[in-house]
Amino acid sequence: MQEIPSTLFKGLSALPTPLHGKRVLLRIDCNDGGTSISSMQHRVQAVLPTLQWLLERGARVAILSHRGRPQGRPKPELSTAPLAVALAELLGQPVPFVPDCLGRIAQTAVAELAPGQVVMLENTRFHLGEQLNQQPFAAQLATLGDYLVNDAFACAHRTQASTHGLAALLPTFLGLQFVQELQWLENWAKAAHPKALLVGGNAVVPKLELLQRSLGKVQIMLLGGVVGQTFLAAKDLHLRQSLIEFGAVEGAREFMAEAGVLGCRVHLPRDVAVAKQSLPGLKLITRAPHQLAADEVAQDLGPLTLETWQKVLEQAPSVVWFGSLGVWQHPEFRLATMQLANMLLARQQRQPRAFTLLGGNGLLQALAAENLLTPLAAAGVAISTGGGALQQALCGHSLPAVQAVIRA
Ligand code: 3PG
Repeated sequence: MQEIPSTLFKGLSALPTPLHGKRVLLRIDCNDGGTSISSMQHRVQAVLPTLQWLLERGARVAILSHRGRPQGRPKPELSTAPLAVALAELLGQPVPFVPDCLGRIAQTAVAELAPGQVVMLENTRFHLGEQLNQQPFAAQLATLGDYLVNDAFACAHRTQASTHGLAALLPTFLGLQFVQELQWLENWAKAAHPKALLVGGNAVVPKLELLQRSLGKVQIMLLGGVVGQTFLAAKDLHLRQSLIEFGAVEGAREFMAEAGVLGCRVHLPRDVAVAKQSLPGLKLITRAPHQLAADEVAQDLGPLTLETWQKVLEQAPSVVWFGSLGVWQHPEFRLATMQLANMLLARQQRQPRAFTLLGGNGLLQALAAENLLTPLAAAGVAISTGGGALQQALCGHSLPAVQAVIRA
């Protein structure tokens, strides 16, 4: 990301005082894509410090968020009502739900808020004006608040009314998590060499852009998941039925040639854990990439790869890990992700000055499923709430929501 000095945007401490009785629109992002809010517990928890900060100072808070991609139409399954329930539980105070984010119902709910009280408004994307960043929609939202606090780093790469247009209409401040995420990105830019970038998951084309843009800045790359499998295919190591992204194979080939010239070490899986389709249940077998049988599908990294990667990572004082390594939805295929996460946890405890940043929705859900997020964060590992936003920022793209705040 283009480096943005913290003097250019305002954090919570810049909010005019006294805040008591002022109406604050708090934009958050706990988007689960419509699956289940509990799968995004780390995003919900990340909202709490800013919310508590505002409520303790007597602000009257109305929360805005999107959920999924309803294309401007109300869809009950994408309501933010479950988010209100999750927040109330963590906050320990009621978070009443308001079934629209504008109109009389929202106006009344906000008008009736006492200092230190909060309401959750319905999904902003139930209105077309949100994703189209329409000024009239932003203007209606603006009537609900005296200030906008944006703590929605995870959608900072989107140009939406509640994160962008609204910032031109209300004095806007970044929340604690958002500022923290920008700080982590700045720390990564300045981090000690050698820097290692570990990339997994699927959606190979955007990740290829991340790798290309990291050349010259990162000295070591380790590629797992569908990304690694696609790169193996680019080296003519076909993993039979295993997933690869055909459209990215040529780009992967070109990338590896360029990385070689620039002296960046690219590590691909040396072995994989496979599931055998002909056997009932999940039977783990380890194979070298060229040894897969016709009915075997790669699901995770193998032990030889893990051993090598752990040694490589031990030598890198700065690590960014984006995307899970295996088919994380199955506990059997979270082994590589868990093992590397445990190794990075132990390293961070031993070397508190090491820089480790973890991000990407699949990776965080895998770590949450193994109860690893809390100990990692406690050890000083940076846990980003961003998926696409983090990827865009790591690519060096400017984030529209940050630009809007600088302008405001
Ligand atoms: C996310 O979950 O990464 C953000 O909320 C962005 O969601 P979107 O891709 O639907 O815009």
